[in-house]
Amino acid sequence: MRVAVIGASGYVGGELMRIFTMHRDAEVTIATSESSAGRPIHSVHFNLRGYYRGLRFTKYSLDAVSKTADAAFLALPHGRSLNVVPELLEVGMTVIDLSADYRLRNPEDYERWYGFTHPYPDLLSRAVYGLPEIHREELRRAKLIASPGCNATASILAILPLATSGLIGDDPIIIDVKAGSSEAGSRPSLPDHHPEREGTVRPYSPEGHRHVAEVVQEIGGIVGRGVTAYLTPHAVPSVRGALATAYVIADRDVGERELIAAYARTYGKEPFIRIVRNTPIRYPNTKYVIGSNFADVSFAREGKRLIKAFAAIDNLMKGAAGQAVQAFNLAAGFDETEGLRAPPLRPV
Ligand SMILES: NC(=O)c1ccc[n+]([C@@H]2O[C@H](COP(=O)([O-])OP(=O)(O)OC[C@H]3O[C@@H](n4cnc5c(N)ncnc54)[C@H](OP(=O)(O)O)[C@@H]3O)[C@@H](O)[C@H]2O)c1
Repeated sequence: MRVAVIGASGYVGGELMRIFTMHRDAEVTIATSESSAGRPIHSVHFNLRGYYRGLRFTKYSLDAVSKTADAAFLALPHGRSLNVVPELLEVGMTVIDLSADYRLRNPEDYERWYGFTHPYPDLLSRAVYGLPEIHREELRRAKLIASPGCNATASILAILPLATSGLIGDDPIIIDVKAGSSEAGSRPSLPDHHPEREGTVRPYSPEGHRHVAEVVQEIGGIVGRGVTAYLTPHAVPSVRGALATAYVIADRDVGERELIAAYARTYGKEPFIRIVRNTPIRYPNTKYVIGSNFADVSFAREGKRLIKAFAAIDNLMKGAAGQAVQAFNLAAGFDETEGLRAPPLRPV
């Protein structure tokens, strides 16, 4: 299958390009960039020197993309996919959008969380939230995939076994996420400049973090009622990786065995979820997922009802490009793991 990467010069675009060098059923035939048009791929993605020898970045145009590719990955900033998605769907392409522009099903949520009126509310109901662990069957028929946010992915995957097992009570779910600097994208900004960011840990966007909307939507959908969640991301001095710690007060006493069974039932057959329980590494650690599409999950208990649920991902892989390719594989009828079988790097 011929694939377009739109916004190919960014970190997520580069990660998509890296994954497709390993994909046997699909190849990147067009990579768009407004700022690097005409230049070779390795002029931006230095790690891809020697790959994509015949390809250069080109400026986006519907004509060029639709003539050259069957499916399009959009790795554009939030708000920039809004008008591109409908025109790509119109010409019959499969679209995988990695921004937040089509992730929320309820149009009113865009007003509440993003502060704008969504111009295509009808498309929101057609978009499939691209988390295979919840929406695998819908993804098999999807024409529009809205790939989840990285903090939302880690948070949802940490909590999901508790939701599917009916353990989520009425108390709010409190989530902390620690995330590496590549979450902020490749455009430099002063707070994410190396001298400001290196060697420090700090919260950011702690009030009404937008990824909460995805957590509430997806976990609420599983438990069949509204849930309340609060999420605070923290910038930590690493490049990749996101670790979610979710505090969930169960609606009844819950034992270790029941939790082990819940995680095994939910994730036992999942190709990219690993349950971490054994010493010496008892809890997920971002270090051991970097470069891979794995999410490592686990839990701890305090008292009879407090469950601390953990998930570690590589934000650019399971948190972005890897997960998007996993969802695309399902939509295209390919093996779900195609292009994504590389194990994590170690040491890193
Ligand atoms: N980084 C992560 O961990 C992560 C995880 C999950 C989802 N996402 C989402 O994935 C998308 C891409 O993220 P990223 O980290 O790859 O960002 P990035 O490094 O900043 O890349 C965005 C790309 O979009 C292009 N672009 C087009 N119009 C633009 C505009 N008006 N302003 C800025 N850039 C524009 C830029 O390339 P040209 O200017 O060359 O065209 C740029 O390379 C975002 O929606 C992000 O929220 C990111």
